[in-house]
Amino acid sequence: MKRTGKLLRANQPTGSGRVVEYRLGRRRRLFQITTFCPNIIGPGPTNQYLIEDEALILVDTGIPTDVVKNFFYFWQNQPVPAHIEAMSDDYSEQELLSAINLTGHDVRDIDFIVLTHGHFDHYLLGRKLVKMSGAKVAAHVLDSGLITNKWSLMKVWMERRPLYRAMGMPLPENHINSQNRPRTEDIDLSLCVDHAITSEGPLRIGDFRSDTISVCHSAGHSPGGISLLVKKEEGTDMLMLCGDTLLYPITPHPDDLVAYLRALKKIKSLENITLVLPAHGEVIEKLQERLAFLEMHHKLRLQLTYEVCKEPRSIWQIATMPNYFDVPVDPAKFNPLAGHEALIHVELLQLAGGLHTSHVDGKVHYFQNSGEAFADVESRIQHIIDDENTTILLRR
Ligand SMILES: [Fe+2]
Ligand SMILES: [Fe+2]
Repeated sequence: MKRTGKLLRANQPTGSGRVVEYRLGRRRRLFQITTFCPNIIGPGPTNQYLIEDEALILVDTGIPTDVVKNFFYFWQNQPVPAHIEAMSDDYSEQELLSAINLTGHDVRDIDFIVLTHGHFDHYLLGRKLVKMSGAKVAAHVLDSGLITNKWSLMKVWMERRPLYRAMGMPLPENHINSQNRPRTEDIDLSLCVDHAITSEGPLRIGDFRSDTISVCHSAGHSPGGISLLVKKEEGTDMLMLCGDTLLYPITPHPDDLVAYLRALKKIKSLENITLVLPAHGEVIEKLQERLAFLEMHHKLRLQLTYEVCKEPRSIWQIATMPNYFDVPVDPAKFNPLAGHEALIHVELLQLAGGLHTSHVDGKVHYFQNSGEAFADVESRIQHIIDDENTTILLRR
């Protein structure tokens, strides 16, 4: 399979708008379509995929630009930058629609929208696309609650707010509306999921069954994250659409590190993947190399977390250490991604008995290590990752 696709349209200064064609054989093609999403929501522009199968399938949808402007900056307690405020409210929608036309299709041709996972940057534009196309939406059942609940962001916020406090992270002061923008709880952020994906193997959506696309459940970034393996018409080569499970050049943020490391292990055993097409950033040509890098990345963060906790440390103290997170973190500013990154490593070390809570000061929790050599803790972590059957009740 040709590894690099054919560029049909280049990215605009927004970092989005690109359309790339990949041939799956003489009859079928797959297109990568990049649409606008600012860095404040995950890692920037999103990649959607249009697959010519027995049905026309759109994988992920991106996020509407008006929602980004009206809601996400405000929720993060940040002013909307002037260049984003100046963008049209339907910018990403127009990017996607014109890209679909460029591939020779029309939005009304789309039969199914398959979601790689239940994060806003990947499904919110689906609300408009469904109205235009009548397409049916499919997502893994473990993420369907996130997608179909119109208050899911509010729910996440309410669940995590005390957690952020326990981490020692400064909270945004004004995340609730004060600028005549819609209140968080008044915005419907849901998308109806028509079909639940409940198993691996050939993609089934209602009566439709694909002979060339199969599902691999890859949890960890979110509980119901899936990868789609798309077979070429002839031979055994496959493209992998991995959502946010694998990214390049940035590293994905796991929601659950145990599940994520297990997913990496599972993906390692997949054969005939010649190209990985992620939901953000660049394609991954060397899957095994990327998997090894991501495993090492988390191993090093586990080690760093363990070692710095020789003295009691809060999660926010860990997250704001120089070089701990991918980008510098301002200790005075709310940064849920940075906090969560430290939290998941602390959680796994706790699970393996390498860290314990030394004390709670105010509402902030401090952790201290067991004093063992890290290699001993690491071998217990490896056991947790490798032996799901005997460690499954550890986290109940
Ligand atoms: Fe994402
Ligand atoms: Fe995501």
